[in-house]
Amino acid sequence: MGDHSDTVEAVFEAVARTAPEIRAALPGRRAETAGKNPSGELRLAADDYADDLLEERLGAIDGVGQYASEETAEAVDTGDGLSVAVDPLDGSSNLKPNNTMGTIVGVYDAPLPAAGRDLVGATYVLYGPITTMAAAAEGEVTEYVVTDGERESVRADLSLPDDPAVYGFGGRVPDWTDDFSSFVERIESDESLRLRYGGSMIGDVNQVLTYGGIFAYPALESAPEGKLRLQFEGNPVGYIVETAGGRSSDGERSILDIDPDELHGRVPVYVGSTELIDRLEDTLN
Ligand code: F6P
Repeated sequence: MGDHSDTVEAVFEAVARTAPEIRAALPGRRAETAGKNPSGELRLAADDYADDLLEERLGAIDGVGQYASEETAEAVDTGDGLSVAVDPLDGSSNLKPNNTMGTIVGVYDAPLPAAGRDLVGATYVLYGPITTMAAAAEGEVTEYVVTDGERESVRADLSLPDDPAVYGFGGRVPDWTDDFSSFVERIESDESLRLRYGGSMIGDVNQVLTYGGIFAYPALESAPEGKLRLQFEGNPVGYIVETAGGRSSDGERSILDIDPDELHGRVPVYVGSTELIDRLEDTLN
């Protein structure tokens, strides 16, 4: 693997610069557009706006050769270099009730679809009461507050707290597998853990990074692959949580070890504190 740190840094900078513009555009863009994304979900005007802006900004970076978005079927060739996989507005169904949302970017040193082990950097922006960004590269995760497009580091070399405190699980409860339901029962009977679930992956993952715990969008009876997308959601988030000393899993192994077969493929996502992911894998297998 070559030294791509300047390009990764340029991607992080461009994401920070673009985040306030995406945020500022949200109030006027809560309406659905006519279309659906390749995963069959309704698109909002805000999804399209964020996608266009990020494609323009990230695609223009020297050293970025491919731009792929969760919103469009095919990756776009932008020159030579690293590949970026972007979920422009993750959790955008949270826009109507004014709940949290995020932007996710994975930077891969391979053409897409690529394995999580090919990631050389990953970041997400969280549009909460304030705009924050978590960025992982070169073995470290940094959390920033983003103001006017500038990043200010607020937690350097971030690692998951030793004592897990929160959990949040997606999907309809009757659609969970029996094994996952048994795991949830054990989690619920642990008095040191409390339920916190907002329905937007970045909000739900960021609290795990902050308090320790576990987030899952599990394999479902009706959808054994779960809901979340490997390239755009599972890999980048798995990379960030693993870099922060936690674990990611698809139920059997690290998400980063999965060989992808398609750009928009899905994966069950379990991320969080090592002891909880170990316990989950013991229960599922
Ligand atoms: O993939 C988009 C997303 O909104 C995630 O952010 C979130 O974890 C999940 O879908 C919630 O899906 P649902 O509300 O369908 O269970």
